[in-house]
Amino acid sequence: MNASSEHITDTLDDCAGHSPFVLQNEGEYQAWRLRKLEYRRRMPADRVFELDQDGLLPESSLAAARLQIQAHNFVLFQSVQPLDKARFLALNRQAGLSRLDQNPGADEDRVTSLRVVASNDDRALYIPYTNRAMNWHTDGYYNPAERAINAFALYCVHQAHRGGGNTLFDHEMMYLMIRDREPELLDALMDPDMMQVPPNVQDNRIVRARETGPVFAISPGGCSLLMRYTSRPRHIVWKTDRRSQRALDLVREILVRGEAAAEVRLEAGQGIICNNVLHGRQAFHDADGHPQRLIYRARYYDPVRFDDAG
Ligand SMILES: [Fe+2]
Repeated sequence: MNASSEHITDTLDDCAGHSPFVLQNEGEYQAWRLRKLEYRRRMPADRVFELDQDGLLPESSLAAARLQIQAHNFVLFQSVQPLDKARFLALNRQAGLSRLDQNPGADEDRVTSLRVVASNDDRALYIPYTNRAMNWHTDGYYNPAERAINAFALYCVHQAHRGGGNTLFDHEMMYLMIRDREPELLDALMDPDMMQVPPNVQDNRIVRARETGPVFAISPGGCSLLMRYTSRPRHIVWKTDRRSQRALDLVREILVRGEAAAEVRLEAGQGIICNNVLHGRQAFHDADGHPQRLIYRARYYDPVRFDDAG
């Protein structure tokens, strides 16, 4: 990150001790909650934003895109012509996303091509590179705090013959639903020892070190919320005290009820830009004579921010 973008992030993310995500700040929370629900009434989650000939959001759509992010934390888009990876990255930059995460399966440009890989490919061990379903998670929940994934973007080059849809659940709505019902459980979810991800060891080599962290964390300036979560039962160790377990049960219950969930099945030329919302993927099947499902994915340390051009 260069100095100027750091400055912009700092000034935007400055709630000056009035974060709505601090339990003691009840007035701020109620004001934020009303605003959030009002934005959601105004902005349908399934709105698809049309890109222009250059593969960017037209300036006339930027204000709506900002509202869409405040309402849902994700924006769906549709390109008039296929985007290559360079255009995909340029679109993401328009959304304020530039600091790309590097994950081991990514291509040289740090974009990951999600497709079913051959069984002798090392990545075949990981579900994203298979055609299996992925249950609720946020991206990079195993990353250390200094490499926290604030946002990611997907672009569909080819959809599968069958299946392959995504489910999305705005993590701020998860917070809201818990705070409305059992606010005391948020302390457990914000505990820095809440989740532990054991190290990833392959052939006696540590691919990723042990990580420990909270489910919900407040951004340094206090204005936004980060969530780390996976519903995978394996390779994750949760705190076992009663309150932590009750908090986890409530998260699971809210996900099962799915009141704030959205279902999206990207078609070729469509994509998602989001603030690392909870999401999952249906299993899918590629068919002979049909292009293999291929999704580009880019993960970022920045949050989404649609600025006016110029
Ligand atoms: Fe994911």
